[in-house]
Amino acid sequence: MLFLSIETSCDDTSVAIFDDYHLQVMKTKSQDIHQQYGGVIPELASREHTNDLHTLITLALKEANLKLNDLQAIVVTQGPGLINALQIGLVVAKTLASLLKIDLYLINHLEGHLYSPFIGAEPSAVPENALVLLVSGGHTMLFEKQNFNYKLISQTRDDAVGEAFDKVGRILNFDYPGGKAIDAMFQNYDLETPFPKIAIPLKNDTEFSYSGLKSKVLNLIKEKQYNNESIAYGFAKTAIEQLYEKTKSVYLKYEEQMLPLIVAGGVSANSYLRKLFQDDAQITPLFFPKLKFTTDNAAMIGCAFYHRFQANQINPAPLNCDANPRLKLI
Ligand code: KG4
Ligand code: ZN
Repeated sequence: MLFLSIETSCDDTSVAIFDDYHLQVMKTKSQDIHQQYGGVIPELASREHTNDLHTLITLALKEANLKLNDLQAIVVTQGPGLINALQIGLVVAKTLASLLKIDLYLINHLEGHLYSPFIGAEPSAVPENALVLLVSGGHTMLFEKQNFNYKLISQTRDDAVGEAFDKVGRILNFDYPGGKAIDAMFQNYDLETPFPKIAIPLKNDTEFSYSGLKSKVLNLIKEKQYNNESIAYGFAKTAIEQLYEKTKSVYLKYEEQMLPLIVAGGVSANSYLRKLFQDDAQITPLFFPKLKFTTDNAAMIGCAFYHRFQANQINPAPLNCDANPRLKLI
């Protein structure tokens, strides 16, 4: 089946064309306009989606050597995300489905991230049961995947980890988004330069927390003992080690079930996070998305759809359906 998937939940406009599980083409435009404001401006995000979506679809069809009429289904992110941004993708998806007289399908953005390590892989490559660490700008959660059912194990008590990186990046004058910029600095940090050691919050708890780390960063700036890079290094080290250590302790509780671990979401691009998990021989099998599929993209939405579709776990949506900015996975 040839289908088009669309993702516009935040500040990436992305479309992909699949032939069953084979990704034919993906076209993504990450909106640079928000950089000058140090964060996503929702109105500007919607405007950019409106301007770019048509061009990206045209380019994708051309590159895949297809015409609109060849498409057999349209898939789009329903939520969670920015309401107006989601609605741009949804209205384009509805229009195409209605004009082409083909089915429309809605996908949860978080389920998209979960499937991002399996883009292009045969459906049998996806483990039926797994532990999932989902780390993005809006979410930090650890849950159990039981086929298409999800059971929450722990989540953040306050900020999401990506959000904490972005806020700390802004306070310390890094480019937006802070997660990416701090990681680039982290990889080249000269370890001869002292940095503040920050304790992992809620050490003996499986829940995550980031607001305390952010306050700690503000105090360190006032103390003037370390420069911005050293403070960012200390913050990133603690924030990432927290993800690894808490996930590992939960992983060990599930040891007998020998569950695979899936790590996904924008923060799964982090080089130190990847290293900590990949160097841990006890955690196997381990799945990370390719770097180009870590941040928001339409290929992950298409991939999640195809797995549901071939397992008979999704129905076409009515054309009066709506986006849901607070759509839950669990
Ligand atoms: O999944 P995503 O693209 O959007 C949401 O669904 O939220 O994640 C974006 C988040 C941002 O907070 C960004 O700073 C963070 O992912 N991020 C990173 C890295 N690359 C992106 N955080 C840490 N290290 C990175 N290399
Ligand atoms: Zn996302």
